Amino acid sequence: MFFKKISDLRGEQNSSFSARVLLLSFPSAIVFIVLASLSFLSPMAAILSYAIIVVFNMFFLSSITIDLKRLKKYINTLAEGNLSDVNLSEEEAHEIAEAINSMHRFWVAKTDALEAQVMSDAAILDTLPDPILMIDRSGNILGANLSARHLLGDTVTDQNIETVFTSNNFINAVSKVLKKESESENLFFYMQNPANKKIYAHIKQLPWFSKGRAVAVISLYDLTKALKLEKMQSDFVANASHELRTPLSVISGFIETLQTSAKNDPDARDQFLKIMADQASFMSALIENLLSLSKIELSQDEKPQEKINIINVVEEVCASLEHKASERQMHIVLNKETKIPKITADAQQVKQLFQNLIDNAIKYGLSGGDVNIQIKKVDHIPPSKSFRVENGEAVAISVNNKGSQISIENLSRLTERFYRMQEHKNLNIKGTGLGLSIAKQIIMRHRGNLTVSSSAHNGTTFTVYLPLSLKE
Ligand SMILES: Nc1ncnc2c1ncn2[C@@H]1O[C@H](COP(=O)(O)OP(=O)(O)OP(=O)(O)O)[C@@H](O)[C@H]1O
Ligand SMILES: [Mg+2]
Repeated sequence: MFFKKISDLRGEQNSSFSARVLLLSFPSAIVFIVLASLSFLSPMAAILSYAIIVVFNMFFLSSITIDLKRLKKYINTLAEGNLSDVNLSEEEAHEIAEAINSMHRFWVAKTDALEAQVMSDAAILDTLPDPILMIDRSGNILGANLSARHLLGDTVTDQNIETVFTSNNFINAVSKVLKKESESENLFFYMQNPANKKIYAHIKQLPWFSKGRAVAVISLYDLTKALKLEKMQSDFVANASHELRTPLSVISGFIETLQTSAKNDPDARDQFLKIMADQASFMSALIENLLSLSKIELSQDEKPQEKINIINVVEEVCASLEHKASERQMHIVLNKETKIPKITADAQQVKQLFQNLIDNAIKYGLSGGDVNIQIKKVDHIPPSKSFRVENGEAVAISVNNKGSQISIENLSRLTERFYRMQEHKNLNIKGTGLGLSIAKQIIMRHRGNLTVSSSAHNGTTFTVYLPLSLKE
């Protein structure tokens, strides 16, 4: 073993090892020289004794040196992040290794905790709906949360804000904060890429005690959606006023005619009064639908609570519209699976939903053709691009009428408020253009979905999906 250790050392730093052995043996060399010169020891015996001491020191030093080398190698392995065993012969060396181990364990635990903290901070930032950027003193982006990466692209980190943003006002505001001319800046600006986004930005210096390279945080608020919503609301008010103004002006016109030129014409009077009554009932239907729409919108966040039998509701609606169908020589034919479970829904709203759909099928369907209704259970609701649908089992109720095919362009606009197809306006079929938007709102509240298909052969089919139960 001793020779193995010696040979171990041979390949390594031999010179420093020999120097250390010689240094350690130097005092005994002096002693032997003195003893030999005073003739207490023969020169031969002095050399032999010195050689024994040198060999002894070599043996003694080799084990320490080997342990030190192993310790050094072990520390290097730990520094590289790997764990390995260390085989040491000296007890002190063991104690040192143990101390290093416990120090290593302490730092590993600290690093793990720090890493977990950083990851949870990043996860929290990622859950925030608005984009957030962290920048250093030169305006380089050090970090971006998930919504910032969605808005500006995955490669936004490490870029400079001047390459990411084109708005001079924004860049000037950021540089003001970076130069500490201002603690925070707020401004509106437009982004070119992605195009035409109106953004509200808040740039804030980080406090001096926040160590690290990040010196400021930029929060961005995308106002495009809010502005679009605002525009939709004002368009809605404008449309509603316009729709109400038309029948109102017809009624006022006839009142004037009846007061003047048609004053003494009983035939004209009867005819005009009928038109006025029609316009008045249209106005009341419009007001009714507008109120209905706003009521349903207000209930959007309320989870429906009732347990309803969907077949009963549909049958009730069919019975109420039977007369209207017979006026157009139509029959309402209901096909249903026998085992349809009850669903969690708002009975009154679901009734209104089918009233609108079946009423449409009668109004716009081919006269003399049947309205076919089918109720069945399905395993899931088809997904929607614009709203959330419930997972799991559902009831699918389809309402079909015969008639000409609806173009794809028209199909995509049917649920828009006040949208009516030109051909139906030309045929003078009355309607407010709100029935399907009301239907859509009701379906959204129930986390269901509505699909429409149309072909020349099969006519038009609206299918409503309503979940059996609503989870949260
Ligand atoms: N089953 C259908 N077949 C063909 N076209 C339809 C059908 N249902 C709806 N449409 C078209 O979609 C438009 C919008 O329908 P919606 O129910 O929203 O309004 P409306 O029927 O005109 O008015 P209201 O429902 O107030 O009487 C209709 O005007 C019609 O052009
Ligand atoms: Mg309708």
